[in-house]
Amino acid sequence: MAKRILLIITGGIAAYKGLALIRLLKKEGHNVNVVLTEGALKFVTPLSVQALAGTEPHTALFSPTEESRIGHIALSRDADMIVVYPATANILAKMHHGFADDLASTILLATDKPILVAPAMNHRMWNHPATQQNVDALTARGVRFVGPEEGDMACGEYGPGRAVEPEELVQTIRETRADKISDIASGLRVLVTAGPTHEAIDPVRYIANRSSGKQGYAIAAAFAQCGAHVTLVSGPTSLPAPEDVARIHVTTAEEMFYACQHVGPVEIAVCVAAVADWRLETPSAHKLKKGEEERLQLALVRNPDILASISQPGPTRPPLVIGFAAETDDVQENAAQKRTRKNCDWIVANGVDAQNAPFGQDDNTVMIIDETSTETWPHLPKEEVAARLVQRAVQAVRARTSHSV
Ligand code: C5P
Repeated sequence: MAKRILLIITGGIAAYKGLALIRLLKKEGHNVNVVLTEGALKFVTPLSVQALAGTEPHTALFSPTEESRIGHIALSRDADMIVVYPATANILAKMHHGFADDLASTILLATDKPILVAPAMNHRMWNHPATQQNVDALTARGVRFVGPEEGDMACGEYGPGRAVEPEELVQTIRETRADKISDIASGLRVLVTAGPTHEAIDPVRYIANRSSGKQGYAIAAAFAQCGAHVTLVSGPTSLPAPEDVARIHVTTAEEMFYACQHVGPVEIAVCVAAVADWRLETPSAHKLKKGEEERLQLALVRNPDILASISQPGPTRPPLVIGFAAETDDVQENAAQKRTRKNCDWIVANGVDAQNAPFGQDDNTVMIIDETSTETWPHLPKEEVAARLVQRAVQAVRARTSHSV
């Protein structure tokens, strides 16, 4: 499928390979927009880029003509993915530390699109602990690296640091789904519960709650986008299933409980669903008729606690179990108590008050309570809460198990 690719060429002797990449991408029908750094301008000319890409390359952050025509935010917004080829040691350091002192680094800081990086540098620069730490940090953040290869270098030396050939990069671009952020969670199995449950009163009425399922669905989608194998056990919602997620529809808490029991072993369980604590002891088989009575009493019985049951110690307990808590008072204290009571590893707590009523909204303010700390995150879109949670969870589960991701 044709993609909109924003290609950033940085300043290295391998910059000429960037030109070859443009030609190959155009041949495949992709739309290519190019950014040249100041360094790249020493190796390739805007004219040759324009001749190959069909559009003028972007070079300056503060160009009055360019910013008014298409600013740095629009450049990222209009792309399906960003490719940095070749990527110098300098751009990797800037990306890691969040510098934004030219157009390329500003785009890379401002973007939420998948980033593919193909480094090229002298082997000593590549092997330097500074570069390796930058690469590790960026990989953990979801940036995908292609190469470098080992071979003869322009400087006459031999070693790892040679940019991959443009053909190889084209192949990777072809295989990368535009919304696939990274592979950090690949090989991991994840269970997510989401949405409300409906507990029947009679064939037409039920007990429910205000959960929309948005946060749970965003978490399931974020895990899948990072390569995990995700099963989403969902209560009734109108949300579409996220791509690459196996969704199991359930209605009641008991159905959710049994569905979760049959999912099989997982490395991470995230219980986001707002499960009804109670269900009717005996739902009526027929619609309850309105009589003369002023009061109606419904006998309720406890539903199984899915989170507590998944968290029970034992050989099948997932290495990381995350629960959610919506609290109206003493959020931190109540959530911390819930973490201990349910025996889960983390609780993601949100306060339900005038400032933050997460139900059905597109954003959320949460607090992450784990064994040793409490972290409060800023008010964020639910997708961003999900992306951060995935990063944190994958890192934790990697540390807890020998599972390679
Ligand atoms: O006890 P409370 O409902 O406040 O706990 C909230 C957390 O427990 C959420 O993670 C929710 O998904 C989970 N839960 C559950 N099964 C229940 C009740 C809550 O998994 N029956």
